[in-house]
Amino acid sequence: MQAEHAGLLDSGEPVQRLVLEAAGLRVAVLTYGGILERLEVPDRAGRMDNVVLGLGSLAAYSRVSPYFGAIVGRYANRIAGGRFTLDGREHRLACNNGPNSLHGGNRGFDKHVWHVDDGDRRQVQLSRISPDGEEGYPGTLQVSVRYALEADRTLRISYRAETDRPTVLNLSNHSYWNLSGEGSGTALDHELEIAADRFCPVDSTAIPTGELRPVEGTPFDFRRPTRIGARLRAADPQLLVGRGYDHNWALRDPVTPGPRLAARLRDPASGRVLEVLTDQPGLQFYSGNFLDGSLVGPGGRTYRQGDGLALETQHFPDSPNHPHFPSTVLRPGETFRSSTLLRFSAPG
Ligand code: BGC
Repeated sequence: MQAEHAGLLDSGEPVQRLVLEAAGLRVAVLTYGGILERLEVPDRAGRMDNVVLGLGSLAAYSRVSPYFGAIVGRYANRIAGGRFTLDGREHRLACNNGPNSLHGGNRGFDKHVWHVDDGDRRQVQLSRISPDGEEGYPGTLQVSVRYALEADRTLRISYRAETDRPTVLNLSNHSYWNLSGEGSGTALDHELEIAADRFCPVDSTAIPTGELRPVEGTPFDFRRPTRIGARLRAADPQLLVGRGYDHNWALRDPVTPGPRLAARLRDPASGRVLEVLTDQPGLQFYSGNFLDGSLVGPGGRTYRQGDGLALETQHFPDSPNHPHFPSTVLRPGETFRSSTLLRFSAPG
């Protein structure tokens, strides 16, 4: 692993950039937020391009980033009213998204410098200790994330966590994809397939109502590859809430344990295909609705609505307040382990 100095935060803390190269992929990860800063992938002609959105400076990452490439936690996605009850005790979280808590609160895992545990040319492991009470969450959490390049142009992201008191946990990587290359314009012409028969409708503050609604006959049906933009302007009340897609899909139950295909994204222009595999029960597909031309990527181009899209493997949003959703509780003595695989190809 090649490690270089990436700069200093306002606090004076140094940040490192860790570069991995193997399996036909090139990756740069920042110790700040565990951010996947660059991911270079060949197109059908073998041309390498960076397919994740990012920002040109550390200052921008710490001040204005909409979680570009970051590890989000302790609870990725929203918790209603910033409160939940666990074992009869109510916990209050920082609310940073209207009335709700989003992606861990004011200073989530995306806004801390992670420790580098070990690494080589193909992989790196980052870790941090999230103290008891951080952003309102109970329990000291020891958490690690490993980025590893594997055969078949695959980047595996593995998570591990342990706690000393019962807590709730939801970890994800918040990369925004544009398979034509960051800064190349819209990603709404990509085709998307999601391995899910149901999704979670949300209320006006983007919190799941608790219903698992069949996708059949709705703009949320991605069971067959469909151009993202095809139904984005449909006057569906669910598309109006988040100004586009910003929902959790309930992935089909695994046939065997371990990661299974959650989503397949294909860019007809470059021929690049991204397959997302995970052992998590949900996938948040966010169509980059709030990109408004105010952020400038590393290539010097601005990002506008739909110029990148996130496919966040995760537990369902607000699970601590929905007992019928898969549980996100982690207890002392248990080890949370999860993997998401990002597999690239360019069949033409
Ligand atoms: C959320 C969006 C939010 C975005 C960036 C996504 O995971 O679902 O509502 O705007 O993150 O902050």
